[in-house]
Amino acid sequence: MTKETGKHFDVIVIGGGAIGLATAYHLNKRSCKTLVLEQFKFKNQLGSSAGVSRQYRIPYPEEYMVQMALDAQPFWDELQNQTPRKLLDKVGTLWFGDPAVHSTEGNIAEAEQALKALNVPYTTLTSKEIEAKYHFKNLPDTYTGLFQADGASIDFKATIETLYEAAEKSAHITLKEESPVTDIKQVGKLFEVMTPRGTFVTEKLILVPGPYIDNVINLLNFRIEATYWNMSSAYFKKTDPSIQYPTWFVFQNAIGENGNQFYGFPGVVWDHPEYIRVAPDFVIDPLSDPDQRTLVPNPQELAYTSEWIKNHMTGLDPVPHFTSTCLIALSKIANKELLIDFAPPYVPNHKNIVVYATGWAAKFTPFLGKILTDLSLDGHSEFDITPFKLGYNFFKAI
Ligand code: BEZ
Repeated sequence: MTKETGKHFDVIVIGGGAIGLATAYHLNKRSCKTLVLEQFKFKNQLGSSAGVSRQYRIPYPEEYMVQMALDAQPFWDELQNQTPRKLLDKVGTLWFGDPAVHSTEGNIAEAEQALKALNVPYTTLTSKEIEAKYHFKNLPDTYTGLFQADGASIDFKATIETLYEAAEKSAHITLKEESPVTDIKQVGKLFEVMTPRGTFVTEKLILVPGPYIDNVINLLNFRIEATYWNMSSAYFKKTDPSIQYPTWFVFQNAIGENGNQFYGFPGVVWDHPEYIRVAPDFVIDPLSDPDQRTLVPNPQELAYTSEWIKNHMTGLDPVPHFTSTCLIALSKIANKELLIDFAPPYVPNHKNIVVYATGWAAKFTPFLGKILTDLSLDGHSEFDITPFKLGYNFFKAI
């Protein structure tokens, strides 16, 4: 199929990770001539899209997040129709731990309230039931849990590949890799976007460069208040081949530098099926700049993870066999990780600049692409983004 070429586009999407490609997917449906610029190679392992699986879950402490997860479901179904590869393995979500703990993911009791308010079915579990049904051991009697059956393990590599292939096939989408944006100039109502592979012109910008957000928005004279995590993850071999876990998350109080919150996945057919992935949901040394990331997991974070597996999981060798990392930007406000907004008003033409920054968005991928597309083309989205419009607080003028 012949691609539309030239230098003038209706929309330029900066950032070619999962969210950028999902945005291109929806812009294609609106027949928008779109350029997606990726600073590295597409499908790279250098940003928030790194790794092969993610959790799709509905429990959240806030009703609007539960609603967002529910609203994302039909968009996953639609994307599933584009590929024979199974994108979501519906193994359920298990949340358990100390009911008093409030973590970056929220609190179990608050999540129960939000699920109830939106009539989402779930079951509650005692500590002993969690051990008996889900293979954990030595949990304190005070631990509680909830199981929500619609949770899934996302084949994130297949998700990204499906979106990439759709963009490649589209007559409306141009993909350019190894094209870091070096400057953005405003010329009347137009933006001129400079890269080493050419200068491109557009009426609308959608900025989704993941943890590299500042590299882009600094060119428009604002920055974001965020911190960056080089998140560790490791694969543990099953010593009992029949063992299977759902996707899970444990809420516990930190012990010194050990954040003591962990999450995990089942063995999945698309990624070392004989291994279970378990990861710490904390970092010992947050980064102030994404360029400080190393691609090497922090050994102490992995040691705490192994220790937890040894003490509380069954059927696994607690020595990690493989590791991976992913880079994430987080805003500094508790639980409100996603920032979806227009550029701040002091940026000329700000209503034509849509930004998604910070937080864990993989589970919303195809839906977030739709939201960003509607915001860019229509100025609003049917999904109420009020709770995510946090630019007034986290964007700062340079
Ligand atoms: C999430 O589902 O958003 C999540 C799960 C594990 C770690 C961090 C985030």
